[in-house]
Amino acid sequence: MQEIKKYVEENKQRFLDELFELLRFPSVSADPKYKGDVLKTAAFVAKKLKEAGADNVEVCETAGYPIVYGEKLVDEALPTVLIYGHYDVQPADPLELWDTPPFEPTVRDGKIYARGSADDKGQFYMHVKAFELMMQTNTLACNVKFMIEGEEEVGSSNLGIFVKANAERLKADVVLISDTSMISMENPSIETGLRGLAYMEVEVVGPNRDLHSGVYGGAVANPATILCKMIASLHDENNHVNIPGFYDKVVELTADEKTALNSAPFELDEYKKDLGIDAEWGEKGFSTLERTGTRPTLEVNGIWSGYIGEGAKTVLPSKANAKISMRLVPNQSSTEIAAIFQKHFESIAPEFVKVKVMSHHGGEPVVTPTDSVAYRAAEKAIADSFGKKPIPTRGGGSIPIVALFEDVLGIKSVLFGFGLDSDALHSPNEKYDIYNYYKGIETLPLFHKYFAELSK
Ligand code: BES
Ligand code: MN
Ligand code: MN
Repeated sequence: MQEIKKYVEENKQRFLDELFELLRFPSVSADPKYKGDVLKTAAFVAKKLKEAGADNVEVCETAGYPIVYGEKLVDEALPTVLIYGHYDVQPADPLELWDTPPFEPTVRDGKIYARGSADDKGQFYMHVKAFELMMQTNTLACNVKFMIEGEEEVGSSNLGIFVKANAERLKADVVLISDTSMISMENPSIETGLRGLAYMEVEVVGPNRDLHSGVYGGAVANPATILCKMIASLHDENNHVNIPGFYDKVVELTADEKTALNSAPFELDEYKKDLGIDAEWGEKGFSTLERTGTRPTLEVNGIWSGYIGEGAKTVLPSKANAKISMRLVPNQSSTEIAAIFQKHFESIAPEFVKVKVMSHHGGEPVVTPTDSVAYRAAEKAIADSFGKKPIPTRGGGSIPIVALFEDVLGIKSVLFGFGLDSDALHSPNEKYDIYNYYKGIETLPLFHKYFAELSK
């Protein structure tokens, strides 16, 4: 531990400078405008892996953005840790809501403000620096493989193909991922579940062109109004999702699981204050932690129709659109849920409009084990570094690759995240605490140490 702290102390500034360099690349995978930047980011990650001491570093082409691979295989007898992360980021819009530009990392109050600072550049880069530390101090306790992808934020659609084609190369005893949050630095936690995702887009079409709302309004159905009504009907008065079959495969928690989940520190008043809301909302009969961690949900992610420019325009729009996603819990399947959504949405369309439903990416839910050697190693590492045993929690987000690693490679993951829910992932002013960054770099080598020891 002393040796670790010493190395981090001596290299603190450089660790931060390198992360800043990484954060300056606008590696937005969703927007083709940034293609060149995304590719440059992959090359940068590869270079840094090499410099840290990885062998066989390769920028692996896919049908989309490349996957950066690197490894250090020290001894066949030692366990192998596969580190997964993503170098792509969400779009930074709306830009005007950022206090400082998203791709010019800025420190305020001990926090690094930049798109990707927490999700996931600041987090996966901790692994690169922890690896450097272990190489430099001759303490690498496990074989290590890195797989850092560039399409996580757009659904990792090419990753499945890569994983299947590279099953042998990716063989490992555990997948280690830092792309989730902790409750707080005082209450360290490990997420032991992620929700799945079914992402849909719908279009409601009325008349064959935009119409004068005075000449035609009142006599022709307005697609914007119809779409709003259809969307409003997707939740009932108890905020249950109102789609036949939606809950069919959902497993209810046992009483013990409920108690454990709800015993995690959580202050509803602080939660409301942080979000600027006067009252929480959700499915009747469930607590906030249950709602986000263990229940399937449906959200409108975007909705547009008609005139939204400056001033006023009297128009009855020809069509209205929305992006709608559903978060899924164990046993639900993203393809099944996408299919029942489509069937339902088409069935509730009134005769005066036509409805189109299409499916974007999806991902399957997972629950990760808490009785594994890897989980115990993570628990011990956190206990050492934070002076407190971590609490297992359930995350509301999705990382589709986790279920895929299990299904294709048979490897379970540990979600070793050092972010906070207040990091504003995907929002303006995303941040990552410098403290968390260094804490991660200090804690990760302990995971490798304990994983090797406990695997014996
Ligand atoms: N790192 C997040 C997922 C996450 C965040 C999990 C916080 C747990 C806590 C990841 O980058 C992400 O944003 N995933 C997307 C899904 C993806 C298919 C676009 C998500 O959850 O919306
Ligand atoms: Mn992420
Ligand atoms: Mn994300």
